[in-house]
Amino acid sequence: MGFAFSLSLGAGFCIFFGAGWVILNHLRKPPVKTLVDNPPVKTLVDNPLLDFIGYKGLVKKSEFIRILTDALISLGFDDIAALLEERSGIPLHSAIVKQFLKLVKDGEWDKCIDALQGFQLRDEKPVSFLLLEQKFYEVLNTGNVTDARRILKEMVRLRVDTNRVHELASQLIISAPGEDTTESVNSRSEFMEKLQDLFPPGVIIPERRLEYLIEKSLVDQVYHCSFHNVPDSDLSICYDHDCEDHKIPSETVQILEEHIDEVWFLKFSHNGRYLASSSKDKSAIIWEINAEGKFSLKHKLEGHQNPVVEVLWSPDDRQVITCGENEVIRSWDVDSGAFVGSYERNGVGSISCGWFHDGSGIIGGMADRRIYLWHLNGTEIEHEQGQRAQNLSDVAMTTDGKWLVSVGKEQHEISFFDRETNRVEDVIVEEDMITSFSLSDNNSYLLINLITQKINVWYIQGEPMKILGLDGHKRSRFIIRSCFGGYDEDFIASGSEDSQVYIWHRTEWREPCRVLSGHSGAVNCVSWNPTDMHMLASASDDGTIRIWGIDKNLN
Ligand SMILES: *[C@@H]1O[C@H](CO)[C@@H](O)[C@H](O)[C@H]1NC(C)=O
Ligand SMILES: *[C@@H]1O[C@H](CO)[C@@H](O)[C@H](O)[C@H]1NC(C)=O
Ligand SMILES: *[C@@H]1O[C@H](CO)[C@@H](O)[C@H](O)[C@H]1NC(C)=O
Ligand SMILES: *[C@@H]1O[C@H](CO)[C@@H](O)[C@H](O)[C@H]1NC(C)=O
Repeated sequence: MGFAFSLSLGAGFCIFFGAGWVILNHLRKPPVKTLVDNPPVKTLVDNPLLDFIGYKGLVKKSEFIRILTDALISLGFDDIAALLEERSGIPLHSAIVKQFLKLVKDGEWDKCIDALQGFQLRDEKPVSFLLLEQKFYEVLNTGNVTDARRILKEMVRLRVDTNRVHELASQLIISAPGEDTTESVNSRSEFMEKLQDLFPPGVIIPERRLEYLIEKSLVDQVYHCSFHNVPDSDLSICYDHDCEDHKIPSETVQILEEHIDEVWFLKFSHNGRYLASSSKDKSAIIWEINAEGKFSLKHKLEGHQNPVVEVLWSPDDRQVITCGENEVIRSWDVDSGAFVGSYERNGVGSISCGWFHDGSGIIGGMADRRIYLWHLNGTEIEHEQGQRAQNLSDVAMTTDGKWLVSVGKEQHEISFFDRETNRVEDVIVEEDMITSFSLSDNNSYLLINLITQKINVWYIQGEPMKILGLDGHKRSRFIIRSCFGGYDEDFIASGSEDSQVYIWHRTEWREPCRVLSGHSGAVNCVSWNPTDMHMLASASDDGTIRIWGIDKNLN
């Protein structure tokens, strides 16, 4: 057995060596490369141009070498690319293609069309058409309308795409001589893409093909990653990505205990460096994060006579407003913690409040069931909205400033008040009483919390459309708030009356992907840090705030 083995090994080696040498002569490759690359049995018969590599043998080696050459060129290593072409004997492009691409690069469109004959394409016309189209744009750009018109005639004669010719002809009419038409010029990459598609595959190697393939594989991995929740900068092409559910914040990393009564509301600042909370104890607190990611009390905002229902960040994070229950709305300076001013209507208390999208004004949902608007300086802005707000209702402005969103009629409706037309233009009707709502950052989605322990998600770009209903958390008496968060706002988190925090992911809405225990009273509100997708905060009747992070042992 041992004898036979060593014999065959010896023989194999001889053949291998000999064959390697033959190929080596043929391609002028250094011997050591050939020995490594070609397994013994194949080398005698194989044409290296037909070699396959990859763990499934799907990748044509010659194509692989060509996209490597292209990658080297795109990175500025032209000399190494030339060396690779020479050593491998596999050029990036054949001489005729190289010549053609040079003509394209120089914009020698007529010569390009002449050169097409060398390719023996089944149908040259579509390529000629595309080249003429590019020429048309260039000529039009110089303002030579006569010449542009002549090119269109040539295109008509090709009988490739009459509609396209008509489109181009209409551009001829709009553009006055000398006017800049660069906007209508095809981008070069778009043109090259179209051009490649008109040649048989592999004739022209698309620019930056390797980069594209690698990035596409990353995008696919992210797409298939269950509960994906890491920043793009964490991705690496050196290993296959899958974060499973380890990256969902679910470990208590800090408990904040400065409030002395139920914590009703909390919200991270837009820059993620602060957290603001408000409590039944009639105060609001601004917390600041340190370098270690721990929060400490920065300012306690005191002055309200009643519990503080909400505390909301100005778009630039320099001020917060607080809404005292059935009281005034106050604004505060974040840096100094100083009281800045109040917004009020004589004798009418506030129920909820909000900021204008640009920080120029304040919205108040008031106890007389109306919505009031103020300039930042306290001057009231005239606002007549047919439908009236309700008790407990939220008000908000979309970040584009277009819509004023509020809870309407008998608390079963959400109204979208268009600030341009000054009318309610859209209404969402819910089956049960609405207790709170929350907009996604890009205004595409709206989360609605119902009194019946249900959260509905609506798509609100265009005609509002309900896309799903979440169950699982417990609520019946209080306002429980929910929020979007995490990577791409793919997650929804919600408080619950059973002292837990519930988290769902958009790949599987029916079941929460995480249920977080720790609080000893109802969880009234949650907020996901907009700049740290691994940080979530929750506010509870137990008087504490919990900061949730990821389990370091699993990461
Ligand atoms: C337009 O181009 C043609 C040929 O390309 C040239 O003969 C003619 O003088 C040009 N006309 C103008 C107005 O530039
Ligand atoms: C408050 O600001 C608004 C808008 O800038 C302005 O029109 C109004 O006159 C100001 N009111 C006072 C009292 O300064
Ligand atoms: C609405 O608010 C008014 C005034 O604050 C209060 O009297 C009433 O009980 C509230 N209604 C509900 C359903 O909370
Ligand atoms: C808003 O964000 C969602 C999820 O991140 C995304 O699917 C959607 O395309 C975005 N919409 C707009 C208008 O950017």
